[in-house]
Amino acid sequence: MADTKKVPSGIPGLDDLIEGGFWPKSTVVILGSSGTGKSTFAIQFLMEGIEQGEQALYVTLEEPPEQIMREADLMGFDMRKYYEKSLFFIHLKGRNFKKMIEEQLPQLVKARADYNIATRVVIDPMTPVIWATAEKLEQRELIGKLFYTLKELGVVLCTVEEHAKPGETIGEDVLLPIYLSDGAVHLEYYPIGGAFNRTLKLLKMRGVHHGESVYPYLFARGVGIVVRSSPTHVPEEQTRSHGKIFDEAIKTAEAMKAPARVIERMRKMQRSWDYDYSPEEALQILFSSYGLKRGG
Ligand SMILES: Nc1ncnc2c1ncn2[C@@H]1O[C@H](COP(=O)(O)OP(=O)(O)OP(=O)(O)O)[C@@H](O)[C@H]1O
Ligand SMILES: [Mg+2]
Repeated sequence: MADTKKVPSGIPGLDDLIEGGFWPKSTVVILGSSGTGKSTFAIQFLMEGIEQGEQALYVTLEEPPEQIMREADLMGFDMRKYYEKSLFFIHLKGRNFKKMIEEQLPQLVKARADYNIATRVVIDPMTPVIWATAEKLEQRELIGKLFYTLKELGVVLCTVEEHAKPGETIGEDVLLPIYLSDGAVHLEYYPIGGAFNRTLKLLKMRGVHHGESVYPYLFARGVGIVVRSSPTHVPEEQTRSHGKIFDEAIKTAEAMKAPARVIERMRKMQRSWDYDYSPEEALQILFSSYGLKRGG
């Protein structure tokens, strides 16, 4: 049955953690503070659908479509090619989200739903909707309605900016969208140097036996976020040999005349690598992302 087929996320590595993808007609929240990669995630998700012949609806509240496409371009995604062919924007300017969510959106969705085209929806960022009212009950109603309405079209992915205070794991203003969604992905960034200081965690994914670890991810131009999804357990004695793996990789990179900044990046990575699994695969991703072909 078409309705039980998973929707591939478009994020390399992620589908392995969520049994193949998202459920159709579900809502997924991407949480993270500024710069963690929420928009990158959202664009990747849309492009995956578009390239498979699906349609995409980008609900934007702050940035105009032109700016979004320009930024996507810089990340290596050509959204313009699909603009107003299979990629459509709804630019919710101004403050009247309530009217929009309660009246205009349901009409628009109904008109589209009749065509029965697989559609991916992104609301990026959804934070202004949360802040549109200080009243918790009204917030809940608005977000609930937004999800309920858009879900008719397909998977709804929305990004929520997080403002966690130090020591807090998750900010209070994001609890509501997490609670109301079917799935929640947490992106975190630890600015301590190194290429693998970003991590992804699945807070929930209804009806899915999801991965429960913390997964490092990196950015690759043209691909976006790449999640290191399968940490293999490495015994203690092998842990000590991580240094050797880095040393060899750096030597190889130098022999290949890799740019100094790439080598510096590897050194930083080595200094901050405290995972118990081998850095081998991560280094491999790094090599190929800089177009360096490594034998063996
Ligand atoms: N190819 C890349 N290589 C390294 N870093 C990248 C790459 N592409 C994006 N980034 C990083 O990702 C960040 C922006 O990602 P993105 O716009 O997806 O974040 P965001 O969570 O949506 O941020 P905001 O909350 O400000 O909207 C940039 O700050 C940049 O550091
Ligand atoms: Mg963003």
